[in-house]
Amino acid sequence: MSRTDWAHVDLTKYPNIITTPPGPKSKEWHDRCTKYFKGLSGQVKLFPVAFESGKGCTLRDVDGNDYIDFSSGIYVTTLGHCHPKITEAVQKYAGVLMNAHDFTTPIKTKLMEKLAEVLPGDLSGFQLYDSGTAAVEAGVRVCRAVTGQHEMISFFNDFHGKTYGAVSMGEIRSSVYGATRAPGYHMMPRPNPYRPMWTKCDGSVDTDAYIAFYEEYLGRATAHQVAAIVFEPIQGWGGSVIPPDDFLPKLRAFCDKHKILLMADEVLTSMGRTGKFLCCEHWDVLPDVVTLGKGFGNGFPVTAVAVREPHKESFEAISASSSYGGNPMACAAALACIEVIEEENLLERAVHLEKLAMKYMTEMMTRRKIVGEVRAKGCLMGIEMVKDRATKEPFDEAGKLVYQKAFAKGLAWVPAGHILRMSPPIIMEDEVLIKGLEIIEEAIEETERELA
Ligand SMILES: Cc1ncc(COP(=O)(O)O)c(C=O)c1O
Repeated sequence: MSRTDWAHVDLTKYPNIITTPPGPKSKEWHDRCTKYFKGLSGQVKLFPVAFESGKGCTLRDVDGNDYIDFSSGIYVTTLGHCHPKITEAVQKYAGVLMNAHDFTTPIKTKLMEKLAEVLPGDLSGFQLYDSGTAAVEAGVRVCRAVTGQHEMISFFNDFHGKTYGAVSMGEIRSSVYGATRAPGYHMMPRPNPYRPMWTKCDGSVDTDAYIAFYEEYLGRATAHQVAAIVFEPIQGWGGSVIPPDDFLPKLRAFCDKHKILLMADEVLTSMGRTGKFLCCEHWDVLPDVVTLGKGFGNGFPVTAVAVREPHKESFEAISASSSYGGNPMACAAALACIEVIEEENLLERAVHLEKLAMKYMTEMMTRRKIVGEVRAKGCLMGIEMVKDRATKEPFDEAGKLVYQKAFAKGLAWVPAGHILRMSPPIIMEDEVLIKGLEIIEEAIEETERELA
């Protein structure tokens, strides 16, 4: 079956808004649900629609409105909703064997072999989990077991999850009310090309200055017991921020020099989202430890930690297994995802969509003055809204309005604040991607007029 057979979107029918969303049925379901279900994300609060079903790159709400999907859940359904091969794999194992703790099963064996084949270098030791956060925590424990050191360094504006260790590697104030960062966790700035802290004379990012700061920090602020530096290759939650091309190779060299491990949190960026199985491959950087999640199971909760050959046995030291990690349904889903990516040449497709989006968005910058920067790596995309291009002052109000307006026009997505984050499925057809971007531009144009 070819990609278009099952996921073709007829643009004469999509998007199709028959009742201004959130419509009456959405309101009714949302009220019933949220009487009990608490702690909603900002996106849901700003647009409380109730979804009924999804197919490929489209979503339907309970009022019968049809949307184009630029969110993939939350960067999860990289291969679209309900790909027949993935659905069939999960359905099959739901009828065969649901859980066997961490005993060997044929389907897990096949997944292990496939993962070792598609991941770069000697990343060949794996453990499986059921959330990105659990994988991150296990990755940290492996780094400690390998090095015998306990301190961790992470970066400003990166996100790694919401348990205490993971939160201690991110922005603590938004996640754990009243808590302080756990001891032994440090944070450093990382280069954001649009908003650099240190620049060269020509205005470009001075990555050497960042590395020089890290040297100082390591010497003066840590207890010289650093196990690893943890990073997101591209910041997802932080707004699709892509590092300068020379940064990750320099970070790798810095870690090697100081005998510190490099742990890439690829929960969001892996498995085709950016046009490679691992995002780090864009810069030929091989981390020592990597986490995989989100698109790994395309919606089925399965995540992983991968380590390089010399560190494989360190899993023994961390009591690595869990209740749901590596259950047969999860393994079947993850294996099917990798096969779909290969069979349908979807890494290439993600890169193709990146080029298309960048062309559209770059041209859009000549028309829309509140757009400060546009960026994309594969299908991880961002548009930064600013009050003034010279001062680059973030335009949160505009971000919020554009989000709501585009959603009401039939684009389901997950921007945050002044950065319009986009993560369309990598199976998306060219015309559908352009249609989605046109909806966003329309929403920006209206917002410009309204806030002028
Ligand atoms: C880079 C990164 N790491 C870890 C996590 C946590 O994953 P989960 O929500 O599956 O626990 C996320 C979730 O957004 C993420 O983006």
